[in-house]
Amino acid sequence: MKIFIVKDYLELSTKAANIIKEEIEKKTNLILGLATGSTPEGTYKELIRMHKEEGLDFSKVSSFNLDEYLNISYSHPNSYHAFMDEKLFKYLNIDKNNVHIPDGNVKNVEEYCKDYDKLIDDSGGIDLQILGIGQNGHIAFNEPDDRLYLGTHVTNLTESTIKANSRFFSSIDEVPKKAITMGIGSIMKAKKILLLANGEKKAPVIKELLQGEMISTQNPASLLLLHPDVTIIVDEEAAKDYLSQKK
Ligand code: F6R
Repeated sequence: MKIFIVKDYLELSTKAANIIKEEIEKKTNLILGLATGSTPEGTYKELIRMHKEEGLDFSKVSSFNLDEYLNISYSHPNSYHAFMDEKLFKYLNIDKNNVHIPDGNVKNVEEYCKDYDKLIDDSGGIDLQILGIGQNGHIAFNEPDDRLYLGTHVTNLTESTIKANSRFFSSIDEVPKKAITMGIGSIMKAKKILLLANGEKKAPVIKELLQGEMISTQNPASLLLLHPDVTIIVDEEAAKDYLSQKK
């Protein structure tokens, strides 16, 4: 596991975007796994800048998003479809046919989830997976539990996630309670993983992850310790509990 503790969110975003850029330059038809949420917004901004100012080419890049709320219309401003379009895709020369975001409005959702994993596998698998992390250690929407799903599935969001996500909605009652999410197995199949975390709210869970001593399904992100190619970039605020126990 490679760990970078950087000064602030700006540095985190620039570093993450540079890693993504290097991978696209090495493999023009890179398959990216993408996350939503506030953490990668700065990285996406920097990728847009690199596209506009440095000609970073996304024309052959494909992407698979981690998750989407269930039964939310695509045009809802808080749908992950809308988020990805607003924060990234509409500014890039990415081919919309190569963009994949779980569809929370399908009829046969179980079959759809299996097909989503198959589509990832058939396309050659995710080369670089970008991840944020929940305060409770969730990655994608794999919430802490005794048992975790390997494949893409429908999940109930925990109270703490609903509360954390309510900052994007006008009231907590509006936050969807269920989501489609890639499973732990789908994520672990990615060839490279880049996990980002900023801000002091993430400090306790980042401390556990950076200590790297134990894995537990009660801290889904800890399972990443079993992956052979994980890079973690955290800002000083998110690293503060880890750094203070080291002193
Ligand atoms: C989003 C996702 C989530 C977020 C996590 C952190 O697609 O899969 O796991 O990465 O909830 O969210 P932020 O970045 O808003 O703190």
